[in-house]
Amino acid sequence: MQVVHVASEVFPFSRSGGLGDVLGVLPLVQARLGAEVTVVSPWYADVPDEVTEVWSGTLPDMSGPGLPVLPPVRVGEVRRGGVRFVFVGLPCFDRPGLYHPDDVWRFSQFGRAVLPVLAGLGVVPDVLHGHDWQAGLVVARARLSGVRGVFSVHNLQYQGRWNLPDGAPWTGLPDWTLTPEGLEFHGDVNLMKAGLVFASQVTTVSPTYAREITTPAFGEGLEGLMTRLEAEGRLSGILNGLDQERWDPRTDQDVPSFSDPAGKGAAVAALRAEFGLDGAPILASVSRLAEQKGMDLLILALPQLVQDWNVVVLGGGDPALEAGLREWAAHPRVVFAQGMNEPLAHRIYAGADAFAMPSRFEPCGLSQMIAMRYGTLPVVRLTGGLVDTVPGDVGFTFEQATAADLTAACQEAFAAFGDRADWAARVERAMALSFSWDAPARSYLGLYARVLSSPLSPLTGLDAPQEQAGAPA
Ligand code: GLC
Repeated sequence: MQVVHVASEVFPFSRSGGLGDVLGVLPLVQARLGAEVTVVSPWYADVPDEVTEVWSGTLPDMSGPGLPVLPPVRVGEVRRGGVRFVFVGLPCFDRPGLYHPDDVWRFSQFGRAVLPVLAGLGVVPDVLHGHDWQAGLVVARARLSGVRGVFSVHNLQYQGRWNLPDGAPWTGLPDWTLTPEGLEFHGDVNLMKAGLVFASQVTTVSPTYAREITTPAFGEGLEGLMTRLEAEGRLSGILNGLDQERWDPRTDQDVPSFSDPAGKGAAVAALRAEFGLDGAPILASVSRLAEQKGMDLLILALPQLVQDWNVVVLGGGDPALEAGLREWAAHPRVVFAQGMNEPLAHRIYAGADAFAMPSRFEPCGLSQMIAMRYGTLPVVRLTGGLVDTVPGDVGFTFEQATAADLTAACQEAFAAFGDRADWAARVERAMALSFSWDAPARSYLGLYARVLSSPLSPLTGLDAPQEQAGAPA
């Protein structure tokens, strides 16, 4: 089976968060399980030099009537672990950083380029697996040419919207797709909807989030569509795994290695020394600083938290949250390291005692899994993947997205920390958990097989011309 993943980030070539992490491991595991796997992502300026240019030129037949011609494309390639990583080098990706305000336009170009690039490389997908809104258009275009799509939602909040008059021509899609049953959404073109509507199967990265997004509280305005997909048997949740080789306290080059709770002491001592912390336990967070992650709640809770804990935060994002944390960093029990720092992240996962994730919503969340693997006990809000991954006899949970509820859960954790036997038993259970990618990788392969043995996805409510709608490939 030839599987083609399409995503805007792929670790270690490009990454801003969990999406990149997933694309850095799922394809490799699927290849090990016997699938033929290609991964397509943009060739950003920051992608490392090891990518070799294999083709450059103008893509054939790219511009329909009224469509701006795509500029010449450079195509790069790397092979790793049996997987072919393909990079689409359009001029619009040739700037530092991954995401920019004109991304709907940039990923529309990407969406038009991917299938011709694959064709040029001789890759014929059986299933095209798109991830998040940046890949939505590719799933739609694949479906229109008879290729079955699976579309995974890693975060429903970012949808890739732009006003319809400007955005519609960028997509290069026929008018009948631009209705409310298709890509149209409150007067905008919505590229997330392109993936949702045209995929045979839609998945999200935990079973709990799959249920949550059918409700107004989590559906980001798409709960109606999600409810319909669920009713049609086209929506499911497959829990992410963790790259357990990359995140392994026994072999981690960035921390004093340890394989059991007793050995963790050295990592804790090292982190304490690195930041000159006192003897209080360490509560950490490694996170995008965003409303989703509830980091404002953490800041609001700090006056109480510092009574029990040293608090170490690594992350960047929202300037207001960064400023709030910078101010707090003057406190002897608060450390704020701004930005992304992979080695420091490892030292924090290993050296903290507890790990806070007060997320307002969390499609899956990887940090809590990493933390547990390093014997660091999570304090999490009960939402999405946090519900599905943090056992009650390991972590500490709370229900409401309020500073008061977060504080109470941290106080509960602090009390448990005082009971050495209870804490040690929790740490032991945490470190014994396994979040292998094997099971989820097999679940996706099973889903692809089902998709392949079913007719092309129905285009419910769309007025599709016969030949475009249903003709077999
Ligand atoms: C997004 C989600 C996060 C998930 C990750 C990988 O970053 O916010 O919850 O773990 O994607 O699927």
